[in-house]
Amino acid sequence: MKPPLKKVDFLVIGGGVAGLRVAIELAPKGSVLVLTKDKLTESSTEYAQGGVAVALSDEDEVSIHYEDTIKAGDGLCREKAVRILVEEGPGLIRELISWGAAFDREGSKLSFTMEAAHSRKRILHSRGDATGREIERVLIKKARSFPSISRYDFANTLDLIVQDGRCIGASVLRGDSVINIFAKAVILATGGAGQVYSRTTNPMIATGDGIAIAHRAGALLVDMEFIQFHPTTLYSPAAPQFLLSEAMRGEGAVLRNIDGKKFMPEYHEMAELAPRDAVTRAILSEMIKTKAKHVYLDLTHMDKDFIKRRFPRIYSTCLQYNIDITEEMVPVSPAAHYIMGGVYTTIDGETNIRGLFAAGEVACTGVHGANRLASNSLLEGLVYGARTGRKASEYVQGGNAEIPHDVPNGCAQNGTMSDIDIEKTRSSLRQLMWERVGIIRCQDSLSVAKKWLGGKDMIMDMPFNDRRGFELKNMMTVAALIAESALLRRGSVGAHFRSDYRERGENWQKHTACQKDRAADWID
Ligand code: FAD
Ligand code: SIN
Repeated sequence: MKPPLKKVDFLVIGGGVAGLRVAIELAPKGSVLVLTKDKLTESSTEYAQGGVAVALSDEDEVSIHYEDTIKAGDGLCREKAVRILVEEGPGLIRELISWGAAFDREGSKLSFTMEAAHSRKRILHSRGDATGREIERVLIKKARSFPSISRYDFANTLDLIVQDGRCIGASVLRGDSVINIFAKAVILATGGAGQVYSRTTNPMIATGDGIAIAHRAGALLVDMEFIQFHPTTLYSPAAPQFLLSEAMRGEGAVLRNIDGKKFMPEYHEMAELAPRDAVTRAILSEMIKTKAKHVYLDLTHMDKDFIKRRFPRIYSTCLQYNIDITEEMVPVSPAAHYIMGGVYTTIDGETNIRGLFAAGEVACTGVHGANRLASNSLLEGLVYGARTGRKASEYVQGGNAEIPHDVPNGCAQNGTMSDIDIEKTRSSLRQLMWERVGIIRCQDSLSVAKKWLGGKDMIMDMPFNDRRGFELKNMMTVAALIAESALLRRGSVGAHFRSDYRERGENWQKHTACQKDRAADWID
């Protein structure tokens, strides 16, 4: 049976900050369909805590935000992309405020906080630690005001449809049926891939679908080895892997090992506010030294009312698991948090495939280099979401983007292969990635991962028509790309740390690149 068809002008895959900002930009230009894999609010954006970095305070300057971002990126940021982020960021935030975003204030003035590797207080936050939820709320409200924007929730994009080198749509699993949706331009905004690791801050939707889908379609992927591990997630067998925002250290929380000793000053001059990769490795080193599975985040010296007011969501979540963060130290350990690499795009969101654009965490403009500066990601979603929307609309208006009359049937899926234990394989994969392709890697560990993945590579080509199945296929693909890029980079830069190559290594200023049917290689 032929899959049913649907045609729209713009297909936006993802409903987090990037996807919604793209959709809002496109709304006046034609019909826009936004797809989300789960309910609309299930995204990393919704869970973002610390805030959004923007040079808007009286003590700050765009040029200082630029310098801090470049420094955190450890020599691998694309400078133009950073300049755009910091220069266009303030306007996009003012716009968001004009749409109703309520950022916390001190009196009538916006309140800015500190986070690691920022040299100024420049993080705007909302309801203390619920910044992402506020941004998502405002963008959803704005998107709803455009009749041209429609939405399919629980619509799992399986693959892109590419004809004659041009992306013309996607095949999507909705309920039990696969539908082919055709569009003049397709925008990927599917977020990150943290679920590839057994310890992660990311929600369940973050299985790297967009990266894998783009890879299968022939898109160029870059810098896949750069995975950011957040230093502080709740470590308790009874509790979920819940993030404890870096803003807590920004407000004065300190790290202690299980013997109660402060250790960060021994590792970095910026102590608790050192870049994320440095704090993560320091924690790991203390965990190994003390043979413990965690360290502690200590807020007990801070004012209790301030903590409850400033971090209400974290306070109440920890309390659910019988941890009163105002009274006792919180057990924490690192977890996979963000992928700096992804689908290569220009500063306008164009990929190497005509008609295919990407924005947000799935994309790699090079803005974060080898290590993202805290709270730059929500800003990236806004800035590059808007830019990508503008470029996609220009592309469509420029002609040559019409949907062909003889659209293909697409790739109706043939059914889940029953001889694979999806849950068991998924769990083994996530453990393998954590142990072998995690915070510290080396030739041996990466080779073990590569061999394991190679032994199961048939899964990456299997047709699945259920969410867990196609997620596994995508996670395997993304894992293999991370491992391959990490093997290629024989050196340590930013978040990529090789115990066998502690120096920067040959080619360190180049970017790794992966494309279907080609070995990973270097590009400038
Ligand atoms: P997301 O917000 O993750 O949205 C992805 C969308 O794609 C979802 O709608 C999902 O349903 C959809 N999707 C995925 N796959 C498919 C598919 N196959 N088919 C259809 N739809 C699909 N950054 C900051 O700047 N500041 C912070 O304070 C901050 N805190 C964070 C806290 C946590 C716990 C986490 C996990 C991240 C945090 N980050 C923070 C990072 C930031 O939140 C994310 O990088 C950013 O929100 C990503 O936005 P996005 O729009 O690219 O993706
Ligand atoms: C946090 O609140 O610590 C997360 C901030 C970020 O990932 O940018």
